[in-house]
Amino acid sequence: MASMDLIIRRANLPDGSRGVDIGISQGRIVAVQPGLGMGAAQEIDAAGCLASPPFVDAHFHMDSTLTYGMPRVNESGTLLEGIALWSELKPTLAQDAIIDRALAYCDWAVAQGLLAIRSHVDTSDPRLLAVEALLEVKRRVAPYLDLQLVAFPQDGLLRHQGAFDNIKRAIAMGVDVVGGIPHFERTMADGAESVRLLCEFAAEKGLRVDMHCDESDDPLSRHVETLAAQTHRLGMAGRVNGSHLTSMHSMDNYYVSKLIPLMRESGMTVVANPLINITLQGRSDTYPKRRGMTRVPELLAAGIDVAFGHDCVMDPWYGLGSADMLDVAHMGLHVAQMTGRAAMQQCFDAVTAIPARILGLDGYGLAPGCRADLVVLDAASPIDALRLRPARLAVVREGRVVSRMPARRASLALSGRPDIVAFH
Ligand code: FE2
Repeated sequence: MASMDLIIRRANLPDGSRGVDIGISQGRIVAVQPGLGMGAAQEIDAAGCLASPPFVDAHFHMDSTLTYGMPRVNESGTLLEGIALWSELKPTLAQDAIIDRALAYCDWAVAQGLLAIRSHVDTSDPRLLAVEALLEVKRRVAPYLDLQLVAFPQDGLLRHQGAFDNIKRAIAMGVDVVGGIPHFERTMADGAESVRLLCEFAAEKGLRVDMHCDESDDPLSRHVETLAAQTHRLGMAGRVNGSHLTSMHSMDNYYVSKLIPLMRESGMTVVANPLINITLQGRSDTYPKRRGMTRVPELLAAGIDVAFGHDCVMDPWYGLGSADMLDVAHMGLHVAQMTGRAAMQQCFDAVTAIPARILGLDGYGLAPGCRADLVVLDAASPIDALRLRPARLAVVREGRVVSRMPARRASLALSGRPDIVAFH
């Protein structure tokens, strides 16, 4: 075999293999085995650190990111004040500023080993400025980040005049996925009708669907059921995702025992957004306060793909975040009490392999033949990565090292104790 472009030496892999070399040639992984006996133009010694396929964020809003405080902060912290605040901000948004902020966020993402993002883009404004801006961003970041866009009717489909037409125009311009927000329509019947219209439109166009669905604390909201039924009716298994589904947290257990099998039967997938769900939901509760996140372990146990998304970073809904999908998985693990070893591994999968399936990414993984996209973490295993949320020592995109970060080390000045603390 000819010499490689890049070899990652002595890496641990997410499946538990240890001390493996990953050989990369012409942007593809060509060998994964211990002691690869050949040279390469460039070598990185992982020295027992974890090499993982890159992080994937299946739910984000890149048109609003990094706008925190513009024109004011969300004082109540609720979803509805966030939506109202976003409506105040929207008319003042300049296309160049949206592009600059999105590109800055993508820089953070690459540095964190996050190389694929599904972002919703608000199509409520008939000028579709944000759509044009994010299509430009998608084009510019394509060499280093896969950006998939969802046409998202933030102000409602039936509630907002011209909304469906805007979605159709956005799709014609190159937006990838059909979005929706049934719980924001005027009535439960309108919400169900919006799900039907949007799923039929996507089926007809051969597109995927990703809806904000039942992002509320209402135990009687039933749009998840409708989304599952439409997915089943239209034969869209694996192509329809329900985002948030926070109402499921509050639903009656008997009803959920019927709902989850219906979801499984339909082949729909789920994205929970733990950072946002734990902060936005339960706001009208006194005590006890509901956590609001959907029933992640139960959905996984039923065989349904569940990913964790970041949703928001420094915008009208959430003032924190740094494109770190391990922060997201860490919160998801705690909120869902997924503390067993297999469950913690599932939390890591929920920000890597599972969202890659939901996005339909080609060539994702560490097997020979896969695209040479990976991240080397200063941690020995996925569980260690969740514990430490460590430095991304190297990020590789199609065989090229696109980011390096130093390991976090503290120098101790204590007599009789080690000089260096690495938290390992
Ligand atoms: Fe969202």
